[in-house]
Amino acid sequence: MQPLGSVERAELQSRAQQLREEYEKFKDKHLSLDMSRGKPCPKQLDLSNDLLTAVGPGQYLDDKGEDCRNYGLLSGIEDMKRVFSEMLDIPAKNIIVGGNSSLTLMFDTFARAYMKGLASSSKPWSQCGKIKILAPVPGYDRHFSVTEYFGAELINIPMDQNGPDMDLVEKLAREDESVKGILCVPVYSNPDGIVYSDETVRRLAAMDCAADDFTIIWDNAYCVHHLYPDYRPKLPSILEECKKYGHETRPLVFASTSKITMAGSGVACIAANDASIGNILDTLKISTISYDKMNQLRHARFLRGREGIEKLMAAHAEIIRPKFEMALGIFRRELGGLPGVHWTEPKGGYFISMYALPGTAKRVHQLCREAGVTLTAAGASFPYGVDPQDSNLRIAPTYPPLEELCLACELLCICIKLAAAEKALEA
Ligand SMILES: Cc1ncc(COP(=O)(O)O)c(C=O)c1O
Repeated sequence: MQPLGSVERAELQSRAQQLREEYEKFKDKHLSLDMSRGKPCPKQLDLSNDLLTAVGPGQYLDDKGEDCRNYGLLSGIEDMKRVFSEMLDIPAKNIIVGGNSSLTLMFDTFARAYMKGLASSSKPWSQCGKIKILAPVPGYDRHFSVTEYFGAELINIPMDQNGPDMDLVEKLAREDESVKGILCVPVYSNPDGIVYSDETVRRLAAMDCAADDFTIIWDNAYCVHHLYPDYRPKLPSILEECKKYGHETRPLVFASTSKITMAGSGVACIAANDASIGNILDTLKISTISYDKMNQLRHARFLRGREGIEKLMAAHAEIIRPKFEMALGIFRRELGGLPGVHWTEPKGGYFISMYALPGTAKRVHQLCREAGVTLTAAGASFPYGVDPQDSNLRIAPTYPPLEELCLACELLCICIKLAAAEKALEA
């Protein structure tokens, strides 16, 4: 940064002073707002209240007459496999319906890989020395916690509008046997809202990998979470694409109804080719006798299939679209044209990604916190919590009511401008 001239410095000091005064006024409001996690708001949860009565008293049989109260049906009930099959465009036989959390299924996948190996592993990952996982960034913080927990080394992969930098992904996967996988959120990525291009999907499926058991963690958490009725991206099937290139065991697909029905009481699934399904069931049969099939049954009755899900997601969009649009409107008005500051304008998913002036995100987070607004920690969207640019802040607009969100976004803008002014004054 160039040193400031004396006139520029004086102007900037007066601007910073003005921003500090605006900031103090916000502090006087004694706010206590939380925009740190992408949670559905109560109105969204209300959309699924009929879940609670979707299985009436005395009802416990699925469409095949199976008693959902009892043990058994380890891979889930057919009715719910059909729902996920329609949602993900994957044959029902390639789906295992699990408990309430796809994150748990991902954790279990790493545990299985480390302890036993995956379908194409010649040995467990725990016997492979230090393994590496490619982490498109910014990304989902909990993906990183899971992989860090198992001791894998995470390698940052920059993202652009088409998804991860595929030249880099291909090079690392081809050259290094210890690179065992990649973490992908292909539709409305968390937090940038990026939708992978068809070409990215194809290249991930086709690429040569030094590790025979290179695995694509295909976390399709937001595949039906469109904000606008006229934009519904549909990606090629990763399972089909991988099959074309003879890499059938490469992808493991995850999804859940957490942000469709009830975030803490949804149903999750894992989908894969036949060999991988066998590999998963071999371990699953040891770890559980069956998942909660009554919850699967009520979800199947409530959601019914593709049409039911689309209708429900359209109702979600009606509730959360105004929140996204209001936040974006405030960002455009308050931050438009500010050098070094930009943000994403997603068409779906749960987040807006804000890029403050590099070197200021932690300071923005601190200013917001001290004025009563909790944001996701700066750096959380990067492995080890380290954003090399110290710029990214993940904004989760769905949970707070509109009025609170408005205040929080206005405060955030002041903090971004104030932190930028402070930084410029350091020069
Ligand atoms: C990309 C992504 N995957 C998974 C999850 C968690 O899903 P689940 O509730 O099914 O564990 C989230 C939640 O924020 C997410 O953003």
